[in-house]
Amino acid sequence: MTNATDTDKQRAALDLLIRGFQVSRMIRLVADFGIADKVPEPQGCDVRDLAAACSVRPQPLLRVLRALAAFEIFRVGADGHVAHSPRSLLLRTDAPNSMHYGARFWTAPGSWQAWSALDSALTGGVPHETAWQASRFQYLQEHPEEGRIFDAFMAHFPDNRHAALASAYDFAGASLIADIGGGNGEALRQILGRFPGPRGLVLDRPDVVAAIPDALRLDGRIGVQGGNFFDGVPAGADVYLLSRVLHDWPDEDCIRILNGCRAAMSAEARLLIVEQILEPDPALGSPSEYLVDAHMMAMFGSARERTKAEFDELLAACGLQSLRLIATASPVWIIEAAAK
Ligand SMILES: C[S@@+](CC[C@H](N)C(=O)[O-])C[C@H]1O[C@@H](n2cnc3c(N)ncnc32)[C@H](O)[C@@H]1O
Repeated sequence: MTNATDTDKQRAALDLLIRGFQVSRMIRLVADFGIADKVPEPQGCDVRDLAAACSVRPQPLLRVLRALAAFEIFRVGADGHVAHSPRSLLLRTDAPNSMHYGARFWTAPGSWQAWSALDSALTGGVPHETAWQASRFQYLQEHPEEGRIFDAFMAHFPDNRHAALASAYDFAGASLIADIGGGNGEALRQILGRFPGPRGLVLDRPDVVAAIPDALRLDGRIGVQGGNFFDGVPAGADVYLLSRVLHDWPDEDCIRILNGCRAAMSAEARLLIVEQILEPDPALGSPSEYLVDAHMMAMFGSARERTKAEFDELLAACGLQSLRLIATASPVWIIEAAAK
């Protein structure tokens, strides 16, 4: 039996979890205004100067920052002086593996409204579609500003998966690496930055690849192709990447994507599926993993995180077999697969 003190502690912790949306929404506000970049380090500044730099009123900004400071995000003095804390420094865009991009992404309007319709998932609906009458990727195409926030977050996900992939797999022998659903190309930049030999090709939705600036294409080593991976994928690559793509789709769509890869692959080509492997016992997994799984439900309905056995079943249904399961420095794993 727990004593009153334990119960009170649990109540206080639960209370803050229940109100977590308030915190994440305020973090988005400060990220949208670029506040962390505007607070000078280490001296800080007066909230009135900060408000002037953002063209907003000082008093509401102070109230937001004070609430965040209670969570150790910024330091705010009783006199309105604002300075960085270790957590707010992570929101600077120049911080390694910056949290700025996630702060803007999770509560952006598309996700926010989809989560408000979460109940519909329990009766077979897709919360995002209930909220917006549009699929997630259709919505992102129709809301380009949010589309670019999504792309930037995929490139800067706190799991640091692109750098982890580049250092966990030997790409030295590859001539062409095709990143299917490769977003703005960050995985290829990390890989090609480490391995001078290969070239890369990003296949993604036309609006996504059109937004990749030339400066990010490594002097042309990264080619881009706008298209729909359900219509097939380009032949001729020695390595095909599917990084965090399959978890966006239910099984039948994963099978279509994998069949497209299989049709494009030579007998020697390798397919690398880069995903978290679901730990079915939440006592053993990380909270972040189950939040991603729940987010997939909110965005895509039956799309989900999968166990290794579930990935193997998908591969087998498409004439592919898993060769190796490779750990990375990130929570993602690499399932290396080839034609059977
Ligand atoms: C979760 S993101 C992963 C991005 C990147 N691979 C990564 O690991 O960060 C899924 C990607 O699939 C792309 N995508 C979705 N539907 C697509 C389609 N039908 N054809 C091509 N790409 C698509 C999205 O635009 C997005 O970039």
